Amino acid sequence: MKKKYEKPLIFKLQTGVMNKYGSTPYYSRITRRGLDGVPIKDLMDKFGSPLFVFSEEKLRQRCRDIHRAFSTRYPNVVFGWSYKTNYLSAICAVLHQEGAIAEVVSEMEYDKARKLGIPGHDIIFNGPHKSMEAMEKAVSEGAMLNIDHFDEIYDMEKVADKLGKKIKVGIRLNMDTGIQPQWSRFGFNLDSGQAMHAAKRISGGGKLIINGLHCHIGTFILDPNAYAVEVEKMVRFSYELEDHLGFKIEYIDIGGGFPSVSKLKGTYLSPDIAVPSIEEFAEKITDALYQNVRPGDLPKLMLETGRAIIDEAGYLITTVFASKRLPDGRKAYIADAGVNLLFTSFWYKFNIEIDREVPCASEPSIIYGPMCMNIDVIDEGSLLPPLERGTRLIFSPVGAYNVTQWAQFIEYRPNVVLIGKDGTVDIIREAEDLTDIERREKVPERLRQLAKKPSEKGKESGAKK
Ligand SMILES: Cc1ncc(COP(=O)(O)O)c(C=O)c1O
Repeated sequence: MKKKYEKPLIFKLQTGVMNKYGSTPYYSRITRRGLDGVPIKDLMDKFGSPLFVFSEEKLRQRCRDIHRAFSTRYPNVVFGWSYKTNYLSAICAVLHQEGAIAEVVSEMEYDKARKLGIPGHDIIFNGPHKSMEAMEKAVSEGAMLNIDHFDEIYDMEKVADKLGKKIKVGIRLNMDTGIQPQWSRFGFNLDSGQAMHAAKRISGGGKLIINGLHCHIGTFILDPNAYAVEVEKMVRFSYELEDHLGFKIEYIDIGGGFPSVSKLKGTYLSPDIAVPSIEEFAEKITDALYQNVRPGDLPKLMLETGRAIIDEAGYLITTVFASKRLPDGRKAYIADAGVNLLFTSFWYKFNIEIDREVPCASEPSIIYGPMCMNIDVIDEGSLLPPLERGTRLIFSPVGAYNVTQWAQFIEYRPNVVLIGKDGTVDIIREAEDLTDIERREKVPERLRQLAKKPSEKGKESGAKK
């Protein structure tokens, strides 16, 4: 068969493509024909492109592995599913079936958890913006609330007055664990004494009882030692509260933050080298607990792991819509999914797999999304072989923070499907159409009449003359 003509190319060698650890995800020519045994072609034919795909089996497996890593090391562990990471109802349902309670950071998320059947006492309510109404509802339903700032202390005292009872609360802490930048905008700072100040204020008020401590040191934390520091400081503080103010701490909630096997932009090592195993985190955390708790004490260890549980179970299939050559010589592709769907592509460099073999030389390529916006770039540079229109690109891992932070902007949001264990594929969020976009819009009566066309205007002014 005659070979297809390929134009000869000279291109600049890129640094960072290879390093001493071998090839990196910058080199993308892995072929993927299916997901969990379902051919990409079938998924595309049935559900259209772009398409978010979640693997139920991967999700359950990862969840079980992470739970096991902790529960085999410490007898009193509870996982709260971090709703903001992915609050599609079907995804939450899977994780609740696996035994996770809910961790929410807004009234909307709280209502969603309740609607899914989670009782108030199985909901952790965090976040810096809890309205009085939301707090009152959550407190009366028995939720665990972690106080974020002084104003929330005053609000909670009002809730206690209104309900005519003392309320058990947790307080959120922030601290130096060696991680930069420090997430110091949430909670009370431990190192400066602010947290003790808040506890004294709560004690003085006499309306609230501190029974829990919460902290979330950041996300995509690559250093397990940071958690050992966090746990040690939290346990020490819990005994200061007990000894000085008489508060008995029942739970230590260390938040989320474990990394998925993903690549943060600007990192040198590939994820399989840079990302520690979940066992390493579990070992450091439970060691720090055993070394610092008093004999006989086993406070409840709570975790709010989001990214590490869901990220690798999520894929985005997108289709090459067109290709271009940029003035600087780079090859560029326009895909049908952009930053409107892949919000996290601003920070993460995803794996890109291709749905077919392309036996041609690769060259540095950039992948744009479909929006008429300069910022719409979902991959700033990968070595890709020449891709025909219609080629499917499979981006992963994209399960965390995309189907919550995505935007209805310019384009409709696509179908999201879940592949079950037996290969059944269910839509868990339908593709949008114009009725979704316009459902909440209202046009005042006076604006219903549209402007007359210029030609009609002309006729009118002519008639007057
Ligand atoms: C309070 C809290 N808990 C849990 C999480 C989940 O974090 P991750 O997805 O990094 O595990 C977050 C994320 O920002 C958070 O703010």
